[in-house]
Order: sequence, then structure tokens, then C-alpha cells
Amino acid sequence: MAKLKVGVLISGRGSNMAALIRAAAAPDYPAEIACVVSNVADAGGVTIARDAGIATAVIPHRNFSDREPFDRAVSAELENHGVGLIALAGFMRIQSPWFPTHWSGRMINIHPSLLPAFPGLRVQQQALDAGVRISGCTVHFVTPELDAGPIIAQAAVPVLAGDTADTLAGRILRQEHRLYPQVVRWFAEGRIRLDSGKVEMAGIPQGATLLFSAEP
Ligand code: GRF
Repeated sequence: MAKLKVGVLISGRGSNMAALIRAAAAPDYPAEIACVVSNVADAGGVTIARDAGIATAVIPHRNFSDREPFDRAVSAELENHGVGLIALAGFMRIQSPWFPTHWSGRMINIHPSLLPAFPGLRVQQQALDAGVRISGCTVHFVTPELDAGPIIAQAAVPVLAGDTADTLAGRILRQEHRLYPQVVRWFAEGRIRLDSGKVEMAGIPQGATLLFSAEP
């Protein structure tokens, strides 16, 4: 069967993108990374993608007067590559409503908290300030409201005494690298879809959409 073509949008170091590239290197993985688009020219992830032989495009948002023309340029690039799923991976641009509407049900994001707790930025510091004992990451469909789309899967980790935003971020990131390739696999296998604003799943074992790691 033809593999699902995935477009990854990044703005920075691209470790989640790299995890997707690694997963997609397995012959039986049902998706391929068709292109990586960055709005930041010197994003570390662009070099990683190029070195892996993946098509990359840099589309600086500063070249556009408004959000929607930028979004349409990014979208056109993805469509040129026949992308069937967009995976946002540290893409630091607020999108115009047009983008998630156009790609509704075909765009996912990974966020380093157990949403709906702690959307937005400085997420780990928010978690530490709130004193939560557990945090993690969330993969969700993207909707026009920031970090608020229907949740597909989560991975949980403990918050440990002495954690800083950095140590907590590192613990969560290790789980992000497990969770994101798993969700992309399910999507490519046709096991997950968005239906009238709700996530419909088929053939995913009960409990598989929550990972837990007690690793320090
Ligand atoms: C990750 O923590 C991701 O959850 C968030 O931005 C960060 C991106 O890191 N959306 P990387 O570029 O994938 O390393």
C-alpha cells in the first residue's frame, strides 16, 4: 500500500521531526516524511532533515504582510508534495483560522503538557508553578483555537522534587519522541479520524493512547 505522505512544520531544533524521520525509516512504517517546512532559515531541524535526504523548504513568515498569505504559501508547498497529514513539531507560528480549517482532520500537533492544562508557552514552568505531580505531552488535532483541538493520545511522566523547567522538559521530550511516531502510525493506518469535532478510533487497544513512564 502507498505510504501516507507527512509534512512536518518546524521552527527550531526539530527533535520530534527527527523522531518521525527515524520511525519512517523502518520499512514497515506506513508513513513517509515527504517534506519539512520551516519558517526559520537557520532552524537546526532543517539541517537534520537535509542530511536525511528529505525535501526542505524555508518560508520566512517575515516575507508576508499577514498570517493568512504565509499560511497559504506553506499549504501550497505541502500540497505540491502530496501531503496527507501535517505534523506540527515545534512550529512557533500562530496560524490564521484558514489553515486549520483547510486542513481540518489532517493536521496534528504535539504539546509538552497534559492538555487542557498549560497551553501556550513556558509550559513546564507553568506546570512547576502549579505544583502538579504529573505532567507529560499531548498529541491533538489542530483547530483554530491554540492548543485546544481534540486530544488523540497523551504520555504522562512524574514531576520530581528538584525539577527545573529544563529537567522536566527533557523527561517529557523523551516521551514525545515515543508518542508522536505512534500517533502518526495510527493515523496512516486509518485508525484515527476526526469526525464532527470528535476523535474516532478503530482497532486501537484500550489504554494504548495513554503512555506512562516513571523514568526519572
Ligand atoms: C516540543 O516540546 C514540542 O512539544 C513543542 O515544541 C517542542 C519542539 O521541540 N511543541 P523539537 O523542535 O521537536 O525538538
